[in-house]
Amino acid sequence: VPIILLFLIVKNLTISRLCERRVITAVNGSLPGPTLKVSEGDTVVIHVINDSPYNITIHWHGIFQKRSAWADGPNMITQCPIVPGNKYVYKFNVTEQEGTLWWHAHASSLRATVYGALVIRPRNASYPFPKPYREVPILLGEWWNANVVDVETQAFLSGGSLSNVSDAFTINGRPGHLYKCSKNHAYELEVVAGETYLLRIINSAVNNQLFFKIASHSFTVVAVDASYTKPYDTDVVVIAPGQTVDALMTADAPPSSYYMAARAYASAGLDGPPFDNTTTTAIVRYANSSNRPLRPSMPSMPAFDDTRTAHRFYTNLTGLLRPETPAVPLHVDERMFVAFGLGVSPCEPSQVMCNRSRGAITASMNNVSFQFPASISLLEAHYNGLDDGAVYTSDFPDNPPVMFDFTDAKLNTDPTLTALLYTEKGTRVKKVKYGATVEVVLQNTAMIGAENHPLHLHGFNFFVLAQGFGNYNNATAARDSYNLVDPQVRNTIAVPLRGWAVIRFVANNPGVWIMHCHLEQHLPLGLAMAFEVEDGTTPESVLPPPPSDFPTC
Ligand code: C2O
Repeated sequence: VPIILLFLIVKNLTISRLCERRVITAVNGSLPGPTLKVSEGDTVVIHVINDSPYNITIHWHGIFQKRSAWADGPNMITQCPIVPGNKYVYKFNVTEQEGTLWWHAHASSLRATVYGALVIRPRNASYPFPKPYREVPILLGEWWNANVVDVETQAFLSGGSLSNVSDAFTINGRPGHLYKCSKNHAYELEVVAGETYLLRIINSAVNNQLFFKIASHSFTVVAVDASYTKPYDTDVVVIAPGQTVDALMTADAPPSSYYMAARAYASAGLDGPPFDNTTTTAIVRYANSSNRPLRPSMPSMPAFDDTRTAHRFYTNLTGLLRPETPAVPLHVDERMFVAFGLGVSPCEPSQVMCNRSRGAITASMNNVSFQFPASISLLEAHYNGLDDGAVYTSDFPDNPPVMFDFTDAKLNTDPTLTALLYTEKGTRVKKVKYGATVEVVLQNTAMIGAENHPLHLHGFNFFVLAQGFGNYNNATAARDSYNLVDPQVRNTIAVPLRGWAVIRFVANNPGVWIMHCHLEQHLPLGLAMAFEVEDGTTPESVLPPPPSDFPTC
């Protein structure tokens, strides 16, 4: 087995953006950090060295971590943080997955600047589509002028009432020509006329779904979240934080220069927090083109609330059927209905700027606002058999406490629903047997503010069986509409505002796996839960002991 050895050094970096010099936390001195390139079947050994002033962990977003849960990375879920001056060696196998994933910090808001692409090539470059001329990571991000850790601390102290709107979107770390002092530093992709490029598009933005387009060019989507799709032709890509899209783009326009651009998709009927409504750009420039316009042409972007375009993109994707593609399991062992969204809780004493009469904004799943443990990670507690309630309880509810019209924001004034508006806090996990098939109806709610929430599951890919608008329980014969033949396979699903999605996965990976909203501001608010997958009976289904350098608290 080939072993790939990598070093990631997390350190403060002074960088100029939007006319100012700022200190950020970055990896190997660059923003974004390095692209990690591996092949399916490799064993990866990554030394993460923390030379920054912050506690840090790194998550390998979308990597299954089969029997290597200790390397998954979410802070206080699978490990305690790597403290300043320390290091941790993440070691895992990359098997049965290929395509585009990414890595990012999974402690406080540091992923705003601590992130990079993780590319898994097929063995022997055996792509299920014509081999591209070149592969290009396109990382969409968000830039803050303020220190992101301070922004998060302020939001917590105020009980979530401070808006935290970024100052720019970025493409490969650069804002592009529409922002001040950025015109001459845009990312530039040089293309050869007639050649086909595989764009490995990653939404590493912190809190925003995005539309992505390139003027005068179209795409063929061939994979999402490192799962192959049936080729899908489109001129716009819709991508939520945490998701990836592999898109082929042929340089078939008249040789010249063109802008690629990304802007927020905030969904129709939005009644959530303000968001950054600006547009980031980069340049696609044809090599040897004498025809260089002073102003490349801009793609016409969808309106920020173009839900129809977003929904069309999301629902038109299907999985590519290959002999090695796992079939959708038809027998379900565990059925859950998880309603999630924002709510309120009494201010914590430490939330000194919190409005006591209104309370603090929290977020919950089935009315449980997830609390991160303070002194031991869930995985370590699970491994040591501490599931007696001292650290967590294995009683995450399979259903919300009451069913109601989840799409009606006005209901949050209905006193009978205070039980849902006022979220309970707890560290409750759902315990499942090794190998069980789990189906989850994910129902977005509009209790306080209505937004799309991209939900990410660690440790597994899931089949997306159906998605729709309204209340799932009112969806006519929703079960008859399930795609059990060739559903798209993902690790992150953008559940639409006032809508739902149904996912199914096989719990074939021992450990503790968080499922959470990938809008960064919703994670500390508690929009998370975790699956505890027990060991199986065969040696291959047992979680091995932690590595010797495992960070403890
Ligand atoms: Cu990409 Cu739990 O995160």
